[in-house]
Amino acid sequence: MGTIDLRSDTVTLPTPSMREAIYHAELGDDVFGEDPTTNRLEEMSAERMGKEAALLVASGTMGNLVCTLTHCRRGEEVILGDRSHTFLYEAGGMSTLGGIHPHTISNQPDGTMRLEDIEGAIRGDNVHFPRTRLICLENTHNRCSGSALTSEYIDSAAALAKEHGLSVHLDGARIFNAAVALGIDVKELTANVDSLSFCLSKGLSAPVGSVVCGSSEFIAEARRARKVLGGGMRQAGVIAAAGIKALDEMVDRLAEDHAAGIKALEEMVDRLAEDHENARRLAEGIASITGLLIEPARVQTNIVYFELDEGRMTPKALVTELNKKEVKLLSVGVRRLRAVTHYGISTEDIDLTVKALGEVMKAA
Ligand SMILES: Cc1ncc(COP(=O)(O)O)c(C=O)c1O
Repeated sequence: MGTIDLRSDTVTLPTPSMREAIYHAELGDDVFGEDPTTNRLEEMSAERMGKEAALLVASGTMGNLVCTLTHCRRGEEVILGDRSHTFLYEAGGMSTLGGIHPHTISNQPDGTMRLEDIEGAIRGDNVHFPRTRLICLENTHNRCSGSALTSEYIDSAAALAKEHGLSVHLDGARIFNAAVALGIDVKELTANVDSLSFCLSKGLSAPVGSVVCGSSEFIAEARRARKVLGGGMRQAGVIAAAGIKALDEMVDRLAEDHAAGIKALEEMVDRLAEDHENARRLAEGIASITGLLIEPARVQTNIVYFELDEGRMTPKALVTELNKKEVKLLSVGVRRLRAVTHYGISTEDIDLTVKALGEVMKAA
């Protein structure tokens, strides 16, 4: 048995068809706008998200930062959740590099922020205050059990933002997981946000890259922000080719010649449902083990958080014991652990993981 690596869906390796597409990708200098494969991925992404334009960036972190820098000037403020990835795990980029002030409010367990809390956080016109400029949402919400924000919630937050003259950015690193979990077209989740970024390199299994989407005017400005951050990549088509693999094999066979095969976004999006099923199976298995705490009903997508009962071993010790059994999980707090299902993880792997967890807990 090989190692079962459930630390993150970022460990996914490119599919054989992606490797093939990378090999054959038609390339040019993307900083001159001349990389046909990157241009194709950007067009497809914009179309898929219902926006005018798109921009390939190096990572989800860069996507969120590029958008924040494009929406806000120095001294302006962003309202975002206290458990959002941007606040917790993006090295404070908005304040370090942009002079932008993060204003956190509580994330509810389902990943939302209460609309009344958002409204209460919007600053009035007063010389003492930074100016509120942007609201950031996250879908699916990583630290909130990978929960999916509904289109109704996003639309209400967007309406509130509009009422106050603010913009909305969506960290859609796993937006396709949300669409699959809710059984809706991804466009329903993006229709009323001003910008969004989504990752190619998580559940969609491409090796590198994220895409930012928005109006043509917004993307033209975002292109400048990306350049400032050193993110103007030259023959970026080697990255874009793998991303394209997911979008549109059926509809666009001509593009397949062009970008040496455009298959996987479609293929990979459809198979996310399998990851969700495996995550639920894992959550139920964990719930049956004495000493482990989880609410399986919270698991809607591919992210499983659970806790160790007090007085048991530490998460780090549990991770070490599991490693000996060729299972990898992530320790993320004093008692918390995380497992993320993804391409390459089978139902059998889930059952072996539950078995290994059961054995380690029994011996603890
Ligand atoms: C919700 C969310 N946003 C953004 C990111 C950042 O993506 P990257 O690791 O590509 O910078 C992550 C990474 O896990 C994430 O979970």
